[in-house]
Amino acid sequence: MVLGRIGLALAVVAGFSAVNGQAAAAPNHQTLAATPPMGWNPYNAFGLNYGQDDVLASADALVKLGLRDDGYRYVNIDDGWWLKRGPKGMRIRTNLYAIAKLPGGGASMRPFVDHLHAMGLKAGIYTDIGYNTCSQRWDKTTPNLPVGTRAEREVGSMDHQAIDVRDFSRWGFDFVKVDACGIADFGPDAPDVKNGTYRQMGPIMLRERPGASDLARVEGLYASFEREIRKARPGHPLVFSICAWGEADVNNWAPRFSQMWRTSGDINASWASMLHNFDSAASRSLFAGPGHWNDPDMLEVGNGAFDANHLTEARAHMSLWAVIAAPLILGLDLRKATPEILAVIRNKDVIAVNQDPAGHQGVIIARQGDGEIIAKPLAISGHKAVAMINRGDQPLHLSVSLAELNLMADGAQIRDLWHGSQGVLRDGVVSVDLAPHETALLRIEGRLAQPALRSPADMPARFHVTQVGYLPPDRTTKEQWVPARIGFLPSGAPITRGDGLETAAIGASAGSHLVVDLGGQFRTLRFTPGVKAGYGVKLDGKALAPHAGADGSVTLSLAGARRLELIAPPRTAGADTFIWHDLRFERAVN
Ligand code: GLA
Repeated sequence: MVLGRIGLALAVVAGFSAVNGQAAAAPNHQTLAATPPMGWNPYNAFGLNYGQDDVLASADALVKLGLRDDGYRYVNIDDGWWLKRGPKGMRIRTNLYAIAKLPGGGASMRPFVDHLHAMGLKAGIYTDIGYNTCSQRWDKTTPNLPVGTRAEREVGSMDHQAIDVRDFSRWGFDFVKVDACGIADFGPDAPDVKNGTYRQMGPIMLRERPGASDLARVEGLYASFEREIRKARPGHPLVFSICAWGEADVNNWAPRFSQMWRTSGDINASWASMLHNFDSAASRSLFAGPGHWNDPDMLEVGNGAFDANHLTEARAHMSLWAVIAAPLILGLDLRKATPEILAVIRNKDVIAVNQDPAGHQGVIIARQGDGEIIAKPLAISGHKAVAMINRGDQPLHLSVSLAELNLMADGAQIRDLWHGSQGVLRDGVVSVDLAPHETALLRIEGRLAQPALRSPADMPARFHVTQVGYLPPDRTTKEQWVPARIGFLPSGAPITRGDGLETAAIGASAGSHLVVDLGGQFRTLRFTPGVKAGYGVKLDGKALAPHAGADGSVTLSLAGARRLELIAPPRTAGADTFIWHDLRFERAVN
């Protein structure tokens, strides 16, 4: 009774006040998901063919195997938990989850969540931003499809955001994943729309074609969902995970109000798929940081090409997710995990790289053929995690100098986090011999070469892209245009210096705004603008008038400022992109 009344009072029409990636709002960060979320989700192991028993057995396994205490705390149920949208807007799934009937109809999942909480775990739930869900479009043979009339089968959150979020919050959930098939896959041509099984929705999000999608509407729907999250349980909101597969330019706007957002389509347990998803997130180190993470999808460690017969690949997959600070959501059947696979997902040193409190996403600092090197600055000054990756099918020798890592040539300690051995360091150069598909994950503990100087690659989490500027109208999701990148142009073309990448440079879209959280800790900034005029710099909101010296470089005093804004020239100045070369921030304190 009471629930019905609240439901009516809160029913809203979603989709207003869209800002389409251009607003200079503060990024959402710090408190919720301060480090990348870790947990388990049934989808990669079971698809949609799972029920309460599988989830609870997996929760038991997380505890018994010690994984909970390693940090894997979220138990997230996925698509398929629902029976139907009930008479009063409630969702029920009487046969699967430990629910309690409520007076006046409806049901609560609170007992299920309480059970997980009592085990020291957290609980996650799932919905869709449209009327209908991915399973209804793509998985018609699952036994877990919603039932009832067309309206009862509309279990997505469209037109019901407030009541759904209230239920999830009241039931005690800690996390919600919000999928997007409802706004992408129920257009007029979908067979089940044609035959009247489902209502037509748009589509407003076109797969692969952000330029043709209704970006403002998509962003508006997700933004209003987040407002409901904050309203529903003030002070203790759910972690908001956006599952829009890198479509609708989600990567550009989600950091402002969600804790994690998918950067690509669904992963599968193949080497090529893992690399594809990794790349979609690895290019966006300037968009992530504490409370807002790029999500290349859930882990396939333990499955297919990453199972106990492919430990080299399993370790590589885990290393890559660790070094780019990706959420670590396990996707294997824990009841079948072998000791070797458990050793991969439980490697404490590797988890510590992922969970490092500074929250920097690793930055691509070199590419040589099939080799790639990613460096992640850690919270302790002079400590870095370095992934040396062999993407190819042939053995590979890779090396990186400590100078490229901005570290002193001598005195560094190097540890291989998989094999425990010391890495090979000779004359200030770290070298590894890699088997096909092998990644060496190293922890290097040294001293900064110039203790007071920081480049963007030393502190990517301090950066936020608050306006994305120019986006090519024909951009596709496959070849992503990234509005601000270290060492590359937005198109992905490298910014080179000598035979390497210029990792002190940021390639930016025309008209983009980058905000740097200075926290009052920096004394000066030096950089060389790619073109002499048209760019802007603001310090704590005040525009500066920078002058270049004889060598073309600009030096600015940052004394005591908290917020620096770097504004690329608008496209009307003639170019689609702009390069901030040789960015060097001098710290006031070490
Ligand atoms: C989409 C999502 C997946 C999973 C399935 C469930 O494909 O991207 O992660 O949630 O839906 O149907």
